[in-house]
Amino acid sequence: MERWAWTWNLWDMVKEIFCQKLLTYHLPPPSHLLPNNLSGLSVIVTGATSGIGLQTARELAKAGAHVIMACRNTKAANNIACQWKIDAHNSRILDVEVMELDLLSLSSVQKFAATWEQREEPLHILINNAGIYLMGEPQKVSDEGLEQHIQVNHVAPALLTLLLLPSLLRAPSSRIINVNSVVHHFAVVEPKYWKSRIEEHKFSSFKAYGASKLAHLMFLKILANKLMEQRKTSIQCLAVHPGVVTTNLVPGFQKKSFWMFDPAEGARSVLFCATSNDVAGDLVKGFAYYSCNCKPGRISPHVADMDECLEVWKKTMEILQLNINYISQDVIANIQ
Ligand SMILES: NC(=O)c1ccc[n+]([C@@H]2O[C@H](COP(=O)([O-])OP(=O)(O)OC[C@H]3O[C@@H](n4cnc5c(N)ncnc54)[C@H](OP(=O)(O)O)[C@@H]3O)[C@@H](O)[C@H]2O)c1
Repeated sequence: MERWAWTWNLWDMVKEIFCQKLLTYHLPPPSHLLPNNLSGLSVIVTGATSGIGLQTARELAKAGAHVIMACRNTKAANNIACQWKIDAHNSRILDVEVMELDLLSLSSVQKFAATWEQREEPLHILINNAGIYLMGEPQKVSDEGLEQHIQVNHVAPALLTLLLLPSLLRAPSSRIINVNSVVHHFAVVEPKYWKSRIEEHKFSSFKAYGASKLAHLMFLKILANKLMEQRKTSIQCLAVHPGVVTTNLVPGFQKKSFWMFDPAEGARSVLFCATSNDVAGDLVKGFAYYSCNCKPGRISPHVADMDECLEVWKKTMEILQLNINYISQDVIANIQ
């Protein structure tokens, strides 16, 4: 029976990866997916200088949202924003700004959040999109001593999310969107390895990438549950697999194959999760995982295991302990 379940799961993954074009052929183009007027909404998009994040930020800005491009390369981001404004000269004026954020540095995350929080404005949508996959590279460690996939794809966005909770709670309703990956299915999380060196021949960047995505999914699920317990029901937590997309993430993936999405198609499910009213019906305890066809997707059995999820939550909070000074005290007291 278990073998059947395993085979069925594998078939599901293969279908999701290689048949994504077939699964989405009936969907409207991403630019037709958004409500006409998003003015009055503030959206932070991390990693908006390239790939899925760039397309997501652009579509949201074109639909009238105030878009904050949270990027490490602010020069590139400013050039991109300028070009969008030039391209849009005949239509509405785009409300786009650039703020510096380097997820390889937890102090950069704190600085970003503190600067944003000073405005005391509501934040309606946080899109944790920025990510890395150091394919085929040996283990690399951040200045904070964390394996780089786990730092950039999980720990730093988790800190950013926690620090922005006061702003997200200021909006009447808000969403946290984590751009995840179907690859989380092939991973296990082992928090004991987040801060330790692994023998070179034993390290796999594919496993590290998958584990960082799985950890990020588990953390978001627990955050959603905790927000529910605290009756902070105005925040919805969504994770989304964008599809297999031609971007700069993987060297060689820039060239499009017939079965792959271009970045605009990759942004479709992210934009859907950020703006559709339909997601409310799919939330379980404030949390849902979506696939690249804008439908709820199958999550790894590890995410169903609350003990495993809580282990990831606790380890993450343990690492962030020194970095939570900026969070409004009542929020963090309740969340921990
Ligand atoms: N492409 C796919 O097939 C695929 C599939 C599933 C999930 N995803 C996920 O989709 C998300 C977007 O990736 P993508 O495919 O669009 O790749 P991409 O084109 O490489 O874009 C990644 C973005 O993240 C930014 N970034 C990287 N390291 C950063 C750091 N330390 N601090 C701040 N920003 C940083 C990059 O900035 P720079 O321009 O400065 O490098 C870039 O803007 C990622 O989370 C990825 O895991 C992608």
